[in-house]
Amino acid sequence: MSKPLRKVVFPVAGLGTRFLPATKVVAKEMLPVLDRPLIQYAVDEAVDAGADTLVFVTNRYKHAIADYFDKAYELEAKLQEKGKDELLALVQGTLPRHVRAIFVTQPEALGLGHAVLCAKPVVGDEPFGVILPDDLIWNGHLGKGGVGALRQMAELAGAQQAGVIAVEEVPRDETDKYGIVDAAPIDERSARISHMVEKPKPAEAPSNLAVVGRYVLPGRIFQLLEQTTPGAGGEIQLTDAIEALLKEQGKVLAYRFQGTRFDCGNKAGLVRATMHMAMQDPKLAPVVREFLAQG
Ligand code: UTP
Repeated sequence: MSKPLRKVVFPVAGLGTRFLPATKVVAKEMLPVLDRPLIQYAVDEAVDAGADTLVFVTNRYKHAIADYFDKAYELEAKLQEKGKDELLALVQGTLPRHVRAIFVTQPEALGLGHAVLCAKPVVGDEPFGVILPDDLIWNGHLGKGGVGALRQMAELAGAQQAGVIAVEEVPRDETDKYGIVDAAPIDERSARISHMVEKPKPAEAPSNLAVVGRYVLPGRIFQLLEQTTPGAGGEIQLTDAIEALLKEQGKVLAYRFQGTRFDCGNKAGLVRATMHMAMQDPKLAPVVREFLAQG
């Protein structure tokens, strides 16, 4: 993995059933944490890691994501006319000028591994990042002292010439919600993975180190995904292809990122993320405190 991380894939073709009925028409990734949709936090993190090509794997219901990153001519003209420069900058700043967005469709929700495979024609044979936008990882304001989780991982991948997967300790009784790794520590944050298993029951889990939604992978993973048969839940699992990569290359690293993860794929996580971000905002923090004080 000697090349820099230029391309990042966002698999956003899931059905988002945990947020029905809203997700009948609103893509889960467009749900806001305060005033920014989840996908914006994810894109900012990719750009912070150095990406200039963003690949969104969407389905036919998710036009809103493409619209969000597109130019909004009428709105921009109105804001300009009224001299609302700050708002104009917000509207124009969803995607930096040097970054391009490419959309590919996943015709059927056949699993995360299958969604990543759909990005193969765009990514080709180079190392790339994967961000699951519903895992919001907050490590302060990017570019203002905060270093995004993907950037931390890209640096490690470059230095170690290896694939890197973000992990976090989870309660033992929740191992069946995650991919779980068995890994030998290298230092405080990184470990060498020996084995991975998708959604094991607590009694069968090799550890409580769970894979969360950030990956830096070599282009080789695409061929391995092509050979992957449906696994847990009848879906093509990314974890299974990474396990194959591990057998072949012998070196894939688990990385405990710096930052706080909010699982915004469920309601409790989205509420936590919203409260956390509100507490960072000097105008909103007193509102939250007052509301909580009322019981
Ligand atoms: P989830 O397991 O959270 O599934 O997918 P989901 O469909 O989005 O949400 P629920 O569970 O029904 O509420 C994890 C990530 O993988 C993507 C999702 O969009 C999400 O970013 N994904 C999953 C795909 O892109 N395609 C798939 O076939 C499956």
